[in-house]
Amino acid sequence: MDMNSVNVEQIVKQVLANMSGAPAATPASAGPIPKTARVAMLTELEHYEIKEFPIPPVGDDDILVKVEGCGICGTDAHEFKRDPFGLIPVALGHEGTGEIVKMGKNVKKDSAGKDLHVGDKVVSCMIFKDNPDITMFDLNKQNIGGSDVYGLLPDDDIHLNGWFSDYIFIRGGSTIFNVSDLDLYSRILIEPCAVLVHAVERAKSTGILRFNSRVVVQGCGPIGLICIAILRTMGVANITAVDGEQKRLDFAKQLGATQTVNFKDHKGLDALAAAVEASFGGHPADFGFQCTGSPVAHANIYKFIRNGGGLCELGFFINGGDATINPHFDICAKEITLVGSWVYTLRDYATTFDFLKSAKRIGLPMDKLITHTFPLDEINEGHKTNLAMAGLKIAILNK
Ligand SMILES: NC(=O)c1ccc[n+]([C@@H]2O[C@H](COP(=O)([O-])OP(=O)(O)OC[C@H]3O[C@@H](n4cnc5c(N)ncnc54)[C@H](O)[C@@H]3O)[C@@H](O)[C@H]2O)c1
Ligand SMILES: [Zn+2]
Repeated sequence: MDMNSVNVEQIVKQVLANMSGAPAATPASAGPIPKTARVAMLTELEHYEIKEFPIPPVGDDDILVKVEGCGICGTDAHEFKRDPFGLIPVALGHEGTGEIVKMGKNVKKDSAGKDLHVGDKVVSCMIFKDNPDITMFDLNKQNIGGSDVYGLLPDDDIHLNGWFSDYIFIRGGSTIFNVSDLDLYSRILIEPCAVLVHAVERAKSTGILRFNSRVVVQGCGPIGLICIAILRTMGVANITAVDGEQKRLDFAKQLGATQTVNFKDHKGLDALAAAVEASFGGHPADFGFQCTGSPVAHANIYKFIRNGGGLCELGFFINGGDATINPHFDICAKEITLVGSWVYTLRDYATTFDFLKSAKRIGLPMDKLITHTFPLDEINEGHKTNLAMAGLKIAILNK
């Protein structure tokens, strides 16, 4: 029997199963479940090895997901280069999505209360080991920081713990969302978008960010660009993007920035602050989002913001060193309201699904954020492309 006849047989079975109204055990798109799965393990610095592990039996509370794709995050880049979390050997990949191919009998609903079936497209969020019954409605307060996440777990006997793989094994007590109504690229962008949904929520908590605010977004990597897209989608219409890369600034305009300032065109901080002010017609910004990991950029942004304005600092997921500011001029005399932002809550995840649909509706080309894709067995090249800053978001796609 050749491969084609296997597929035909499978499709026929699927159609018959659907006609009889019985839920299909294995959807046609997923194919039969193999005995083993490939996992890209970071086994040493700057080196992934593709390893093959047996797929464990799926228990009553477990979900087996066939991975479709996963974005490479800045955190993965740090792990790849320096392993700051001391996880090697580790199955990385936390911006992933895929299709449920098998699930235990106790699995009925996702973390938002939506039905879950074999064939649904899902993303996972944090794992609450100590509080598995927690629901998303409790979670406005509980930030993911400190919880476990697939793709950043220590290796164990299951091994299928990250999204840079063929299959991922989601255990009971994890959070999972049915996002079958989002396309593949949107689903890959959920995790980084949730970071910015959270940052904008933090910004709103100051009471300073308004629809008609003049907002400066400093840094136009994926994080700053998504920040701009969210502000635009929620109705903020006066946004200046600041970066030194003209291509990124041009893309910032496509995602909703109304003005751009290339810091390389301005000598010295006073000139740069004057350029930001000029971009708003001679006014400093009401609010700033700091989206670079540069301490100098942190120090600079105060100069762009008006007296009584607000600032959300979210650029330092890892320690980037100390910044020097003048507390008198920069914070005290200006009465700046500063908030920090750190990953997200589960509630932010649900908001993100709506944001991605709204962004599409108003025509923002979010999928252009994914500039390069690589198959799993070229994951080392994918990471090197990411480190070279050759594109924006790099994704690993399984066919
Ligand atoms: N708060 C969180 O939970 C969270 C989550 C993820 C990432 N982050 C942080 O967000 C930061 C940005 O992430 P990214 O993926 O967009 O990174 P990135 O490196 O792709 O982008 C940073 C951008 O900032 C620009 N830049 C550098 N110095 C600048 C300056 N002085 N002025 C203006 N622009 C400058 C760079 O040209 C680049 O385009 C990272 O440092 C990361 O640690 C935070
Ligand atoms: Zn990430």
